[in-house]
Amino acid sequence: MYPDLQKELDTFERRTPKSAAAHKRNLKRIPLGVASNYRHYEPYPIFVKEGQGSHFRDVDGNDYIDHNLCFGALMAGHCHPAVMKAVAERLTTGTMFGMPHDMEWQLAEEICQRFPVEMVRFGNSGTEATMHSIRLARAATGRDKIVKFEGAYHGLHDSALVSVKPHAPDYGDIHAPTSVPGGQGVPKTAVANVTIATFNDLDSVELRFKQNPGEIAAIILEPILMNVGLCIPQPGFLKGLRDIATRNGALLIFDEVKTGAKLGWGGASEYFGVTPDMICLAKSIGGGLPLAAFGAHTSVMDLISQHKVFHGGTYNTNPVSMAAGLATFREVLTRENYTHVDKLSKKLTEGYRKTVAKSGLQAYIASAGANGALMLYPKEIRTYRDWEAIDIDLWRHYWFGMVNRGVMAQPYWWDEQWTISVQHTEADIDKHLAAFEDIAPALAKAQQEREAPAVAVH
Ligand SMILES: Cc1ncc(COP(=O)(O)O)c(C=O)c1O
Repeated sequence: MYPDLQKELDTFERRTPKSAAAHKRNLKRIPLGVASNYRHYEPYPIFVKEGQGSHFRDVDGNDYIDHNLCFGALMAGHCHPAVMKAVAERLTTGTMFGMPHDMEWQLAEEICQRFPVEMVRFGNSGTEATMHSIRLARAATGRDKIVKFEGAYHGLHDSALVSVKPHAPDYGDIHAPTSVPGGQGVPKTAVANVTIATFNDLDSVELRFKQNPGEIAAIILEPILMNVGLCIPQPGFLKGLRDIATRNGALLIFDEVKTGAKLGWGGASEYFGVTPDMICLAKSIGGGLPLAAFGAHTSVMDLISQHKVFHGGTYNTNPVSMAAGLATFREVLTRENYTHVDKLSKKLTEGYRKTVAKSGLQAYIASAGANGALMLYPKEIRTYRDWEAIDIDLWRHYWFGMVNRGVMAQPYWWDEQWTISVQHTEADIDKHLAAFEDIAPALAKAQQEREAPAVAVH
């Protein structure tokens, strides 16, 4: 371990004793001491007390600029006033009915105006959105298999938990990756129906269609692979997928759980100019409450109307989440707010680039819409396997160093990225950049020492 990383870890433990104690307590009753595996890390996760705007405070009273924002689900920032007002109004007029109401068509209209879909259904999580989309695609085509990209995350159902973070030698040839279950309990039959391709490699997608003629229902992807930091589609890749899907009678599903709100007003299809057949939305569309949606053209969604595909859910369109969603679409995810976030994103990205150049750190900054990441690689990554080459200790040094300086630069884990909310300010970005400037020389030094190990003296 780099000595400076150890120093940062010592500082972290000095600053967060109450988190340590809270985690120890949790461990007795809750596996890993957390409610979602992603929240667990060594030595223990920060326990949160409260959040407001672009900041949160932990149980020890430390204040942080928050670019984790619930794994990118809070482009609204904490407690956005418009969302809170809408929620407060609903809290006294009934929170669940399991009956239709007037906000459903309003939110469906908002979604259909922004995204290339004609009908939508709602749910509560990204997992639901991708699960139902895949089922619909299977029904629409009468085929069972799908193409998924190695390293991509689409939630927790069986068809999604394949080749999420596979390792050598299990994952085989990069041009024809093996389907690897993402843990025990995923049935072999589910794995067999998920064929894996490599992001930014159209040939690997063509190969799957050649090997499985008339059997592939859909290609599902995040238009920007955000489960490996930020892996940008190379020019022509998304358009190529569109062509392959159309040629083979398969549906193209954009999993826009992250990109839908955070790339810009019209999500990835507007940003990249490529139109999918189906989209999945969740996270930031709820403004801080659980809300998801999936949509497609009427011919596909009609399978639900015709009782051919089943979709339901007790909590679907609960009025509190729907009120939050409506306020989010109308008052948070506005063109003006995207302009504000783009401006901050440019400032943050340019600031990072300057500091990287000055410090000599071998890294680049990836950025798109409200998202960005310090990518600790000498050149741009294009695939999941490029991402695997990360120097984990160096990344931990960065993350804990930033946290100790009051900046949660992104969620813990080097496969994540930062989010800038509509409530972040220029002052937040200045503080973020100052913290990075402070720590960058130590990161560069650690990197150089690792690359040039001391020559043994006999
Ligand atoms: C691209 C993508 N799809 C689906 C999901 C699953 O969403 P949820 O955690 O709401 O089930 C996530 C969650 O991180 C995601 O990033």
